[in-house]
Amino acid sequence: MKALIDKLYSTSSLTKEEYTKLIQHHSGSDAEYLYSLAVKRRKEYYGTDVYIRGLIEFTNYCKNDCLYCGIRRSNKNTERYRLDKDDILACCEQGYGLGFRTFVLQGGEDPYFTDERICDIVSSIKSSYPDCAVTLSIGEKEHASYKAFFDAGADRYLLRHETADNNHYRKLHPSEMSPEHRKQCLYDLKAIGYQVGCGFMVGSPYQTAENLADDMMFLKEFRPHMVGIGPFISQHDTPFSDFESGTLDQTLFMLGLIRLTLPYVLLPSTTALGTIHPLGREKGVLAGANVVMPNLSPVSVRKKYLLYDNKICTGDEAAECKNCLQMRMRSIGYDVVSSRGDCAGIK
Ligand code: SAM
Ligand code: FES
Repeated sequence: MKALIDKLYSTSSLTKEEYTKLIQHHSGSDAEYLYSLAVKRRKEYYGTDVYIRGLIEFTNYCKNDCLYCGIRRSNKNTERYRLDKDDILACCEQGYGLGFRTFVLQGGEDPYFTDERICDIVSSIKSSYPDCAVTLSIGEKEHASYKAFFDAGADRYLLRHETADNNHYRKLHPSEMSPEHRKQCLYDLKAIGYQVGCGFMVGSPYQTAENLADDMMFLKEFRPHMVGIGPFISQHDTPFSDFESGTLDQTLFMLGLIRLTLPYVLLPSTTALGTIHPLGREKGVLAGANVVMPNLSPVSVRKKYLLYDNKICTGDEAAECKNCLQMRMRSIGYDVVSSRGDCAGIK
């Protein structure tokens, strides 16, 4: 296995069969070897800097019904909320004071937030904080909508592809959602000029090692600026409540593979990783990640954005979250930096 890891390190590429073999058959010492090379590669591009993104979860209304997600429309036990423009701007003001230079607006697919409303919010943030990047993560839209958000000033867009295998995708989503449309959205976003993030859940129901290898092949083909991955974590009010969650080791291994495959990429160590292990986010950085995303949403709504069970940081003020992450990163020899944290460039 070490020979395959060496090959990935020197060429940034493996075949699907090679990825599958590594994912399926690696040992603990292979994983440690992968992480050491992933950290080395990440340091060549980003040193020991860790970028922070202020996450604002501004609506948990969603018209979709993804089978894994706690805010799916069929979950009648979710108490729904929306933040208005003033609430969102207040989050940004607080975040700016704390040193955030990227704001990520994430939410369910909420028809209340028409293109006009989103454009208004984006342009207001950009005019108050011209030195900040705005990232949107609001799901699948048509090309014209993405273009309008971009023209209003949005810089980046996160849309996880969830799984690159179309059959697997159909097992995770109702029939009205299609893997083809989701991928089309990603290509539209890139063509418009966004810095684009795709990504997937690790250990999602029915996922095989081959599916994960397909995810790696998709990343190689699409060449995103960012990749968001985290373990699938079951949520008690969804059809997948009885499925096992993904594991820490599995997720760390995928982070290491991604860093060696796309050396330049912005790679968050996610809240989901911190949820399945108390040191998950630190371990993610030590496996090749270079971004963390503290929550800037008002504490009053945090517990309502429960995509999965036992989510961490739902009771902490933004300042506490930032300090906590700063301390955690320092403890492993990394520095949280206050910059926009743009991608080092697709190579
Ligand atoms: N609606 C937008 C979208 O679809 O991209 C953004 C919000 S969506 C809730 C954000 C991400 O949460 C999804 O892309 C999915 O990967 C992740 N997610 C949802 N349910 C999850 C679960 N049970 N465990 C882990 N991640 C989950
Ligand atoms: Fe929120 Fe640690 S990051 S409390």
